[in-house]
Amino acid sequence: MARQKFIAGNWKMNTTKAVAVELAKGIAKAAPAGVATGIAPPFVYLDAVAQAISGSGVLLGAQDVYFEKSGAFTGEISVDMLKDLGVKFVLAGHSERRHVLMESSELTAKKADAIYAGGLILIHCVGEKLEERDGNQTLEVVQAQLNELTAKMDDPDRLVIAYEPVWAIGTGRTATDAQAQEVHAFIRQAIAKMWNPDFADRVRIQYGGSMKPDNAKGLLGQPDVDGGLIGGAALKADSFLAIVNAGL
Ligand code: 13P
Repeated sequence: MARQKFIAGNWKMNTTKAVAVELAKGIAKAAPAGVATGIAPPFVYLDAVAQAISGSGVLLGAQDVYFEKSGAFTGEISVDMLKDLGVKFVLAGHSERRHVLMESSELTAKKADAIYAGGLILIHCVGEKLEERDGNQTLEVVQAQLNELTAKMDDPDRLVIAYEPVWAIGTGRTATDAQAQEVHAFIRQAIAKMWNPDFADRVRIQYGGSMKPDNAKGLLGQPDVDGGLIGGAALKADSFLAIVNAGL
């Protein structure tokens, strides 16, 4: 069955409030129907961005969350707090959280579980480091990260996998169309085994890692590439929208 493409912008620790609002408005104004489009600003701008995109079809996302419901967790943000602001999707296991903030696989698994259980769209990020690719461990690493998904999931529209090879993030070095397709097909097979083939057929698998307007069409044209998770190119409305439009 045809899967609607899903292009999400991960703004990471960038923008100011004014820039965030302007960027969000520019995207909301021109995002085409026919491609699911989302933006994940820094936590502190979620409310302002929610207002800026209100009434458009653009989905509001968060870059992270804590898994507990509430309580003494200084500095953390819960799923319910995000829902309160209109957040529809949340990332878990982004490579920067795994490798820069040193979050464990156990913590990632708990976050993923909380996002899905809270009724939100989970974007579960997986991907190998350069030395793992060079050591032919890519599929093994990706499988181990998929194994973090232990919760019972029955809504394929709320599970998205983002394949983001660490060596391609922010480096300008993109996976080739064939490299992306190979891992995406593996991910879909793995999901079919973990759940069932019908479920796997409906789950969207995004590619992330230096996706730009000039390489988006090729990547998005692969049979198992159902969208993109965009970093640098999501910080300008025109480049982000060019990628979104490549998904039509
Ligand atoms: P870049 O598009 O800047 O490589 O970032 C990708 C990414 O990490 C999105 O989550």
